[in-house]
Amino acid sequence: MSAATTTAGSMTVIGKGRPRVEGPLKVTGTAQYTADHSFPGMLYAVPVGATIASGTIASIDTARARQMPGVRAIFKRGDLGKIVRITPDFMAMYYVDEPRPALDDDVVRYYGQYVALAVADTFEQAKAAADAVAVSYKADTPNVDPRLEAKQTTVASERGDADTAFAGAPVTIDVHYGITTETHNPIETHATVAVPDGDTLTLYETSQGVVNHRNVVADMLGLPRDRVRVISKFLGSGFGNKLFPWSQSPLAAAAAIALKQPVKLVLSRPMMFHSVGHRPRTEQRMRIGAKRDGKLVSLRHDYVNATSILDDYVENCGEATPHMYSVPNLRVTSGLAKRNIGTPTSMRGPGAVPGLFALESAMDELAIELGMDPVQLRLHNEPNLDEGLGLPFSSRHLKECLSLGAAKFGWSKRDAKVAAMKRDGVTIGWGVAACSWLAARFDCTATIELRDNGSARVASAVQDIGTGTYTAMAQMAAEILGIEVEKVEVALGDTDLTPGPLSGGSMLTASLVAPISRAIASAGEKLIAAACAGKGSPFSGKNPGDLRFSGGRVAVKDDSRSAATFDAILRALKTASVSGDGAADGTFPPKEKPRFSSHSFGAHFVEVTWQPEIARLRVSRIVSAIDAGRILNPLAARNQIEGALVMGIGMALFEGTEYDPRNGAPMNASLADYVVPVNADVPALEVHFVEFPDLNLNALGARGVGEIGLAGTAAAITNAVYHATGVRVRELPLRIEDLL
Ligand code: MOS
Repeated sequence: MSAATTTAGSMTVIGKGRPRVEGPLKVTGTAQYTADHSFPGMLYAVPVGATIASGTIASIDTARARQMPGVRAIFKRGDLGKIVRITPDFMAMYYVDEPRPALDDDVVRYYGQYVALAVADTFEQAKAAADAVAVSYKADTPNVDPRLEAKQTTVASERGDADTAFAGAPVTIDVHYGITTETHNPIETHATVAVPDGDTLTLYETSQGVVNHRNVVADMLGLPRDRVRVISKFLGSGFGNKLFPWSQSPLAAAAAIALKQPVKLVLSRPMMFHSVGHRPRTEQRMRIGAKRDGKLVSLRHDYVNATSILDDYVENCGEATPHMYSVPNLRVTSGLAKRNIGTPTSMRGPGAVPGLFALESAMDELAIELGMDPVQLRLHNEPNLDEGLGLPFSSRHLKECLSLGAAKFGWSKRDAKVAAMKRDGVTIGWGVAACSWLAARFDCTATIELRDNGSARVASAVQDIGTGTYTAMAQMAAEILGIEVEKVEVALGDTDLTPGPLSGGSMLTASLVAPISRAIASAGEKLIAAACAGKGSPFSGKNPGDLRFSGGRVAVKDDSRSAATFDAILRALKTASVSGDGAADGTFPPKEKPRFSSHSFGAHFVEVTWQPEIARLRVSRIVSAIDAGRILNPLAARNQIEGALVMGIGMALFEGTEYDPRNGAPMNASLADYVVPVNADVPALEVHFVEFPDLNLNALGARGVGEIGLAGTAAAITNAVYHATGVRVRELPLRIEDLL
């Protein structure tokens, strides 16, 4: 089903499945993750977290902790050098979700908020000292109520008159959905190793954005940015909670500066539930009005998300709603409910993922109301343009995803009646949902070095959060240079390199395409100039304008027999290397009115099995068809979608953080109690890419694949559950008792 393209066939590296280039480093334990870094004289820091969620600190007694073996310092408010609050600017990509520095005042606004920091010679000593700090509080009753009500709402998108059209619609749906707080649980917890050296500071960090991290933390510490270096070479994943710095990083850095020694601070698993973000609880009301033939006439999407006391984090649930379907009358509103819970943050597919659970569930409910096939209902409402923005889509192939997915899944054999389909004595249910995730590019720069041994080094201060950025950068450079991937060294995750953007929004791969190709072109120009000017080169004395650089070779234009590889020319010139740099402006945040609406799309088809006798529900099959432009590395891309589908099973069936109403503590703050899917929960996953290159986004037509796979998945599962059981699940995660 691949789209015919002129260039795809001629590429030798791009589009081929390629194992991670850094894989051997990881499986042999050679890769140094943040917490693996140790330095002579390094101390260990353990924060003390508040055991209330609302109130004030009455006293902090550190006397006993200070006397304990190996203890170097117990810091509380006022004991540490200044950490200042910065003003985050999302549009300038200068960002932090929780700008309040640690230990800033004596008010406690969420459970686990840092109130002190113990530093000692060993981790065990620091932990014992942290536990020995005696804090007394004046506690208030915290508000962690899961029922959300917004004081005021904001219109996020509007067209036509949704209310009048809804009132006059012959078929209507008016339903509420809720999704419990989800906590990011990357295997690698957040860590900072702060190394002061004279007036410079190096931070080894678990960061999805080293440049932003450097800028924010340097400013919070009042240090010149050029004296702070942030390094993040390998990450044990992130899901979004490592996009922006959290308060433990400047805290560790300030302690290291105060003590003039390296300090390592690694969060425990419970701390991951307190102070480094989560996907907040959302409540959504969907109202859809349709004609009897299924044509939508009105769509209203009103959502509220929980946020922290100090920060207005908006979980943008209406992100996809305005462009998913053709509907003349639409209104999306957004509201916030303040809770005594830490500040939320982006979690894989922020906004669109919870939003599409509601929209794609409601579309299924509408299909049932209409007695219409849910695939047909979606095809029937396919828009010709983004009706929210009034812009053409850069490339939208949702129809192809629905058709291909349906064919691969065998959807035509579906009996629409509830519990009508059986196999091997169990009831099976089939559900479908569509998905969408934005496609865009950040500003990005890259450098290349071409060497006389035929190798190259490509670099940018970006990160590989485990998704395959090392491999993608190597592939891009190898493709353009006509060399093997193994000959490309990739440098990333270090603010000493040329600036690169966040590993976020599934935008990094698309952002790197132009800068890498421009860097190589600029190195080629320099090589041509040197080859013409230098002695001993096959092109000595030639006019640079008569030469071209392509496929890693310099040649006289229109005379391919004259071609010489870059390394042969460098050797002839007795030059070790030639370098080039490239930059490209991004489309996000937008600098001007966009010409296109750019999104990825897809469709998930899910089968569940249901055994009512023993209340056993299983997801037994998922087939996903994804439109993410050209796929650079099918192996890594399929792995991204599969991982997202597993996370979708977690979202639908397992994941949820529960807060104790008495003290605001997350009650299931461990990997034993916060349930995520394991192998036994995950069936065969089948992923197909429709591969229509999105050439409006970049020259390769590649979009990101990190998040699209999670959008819509939970709805496809609960839609299948309805088909099997007749029970409509509107609150995630599903509880087995709901089905009884
Ligand atoms: Mo993603 S939630 O932008 O890391």
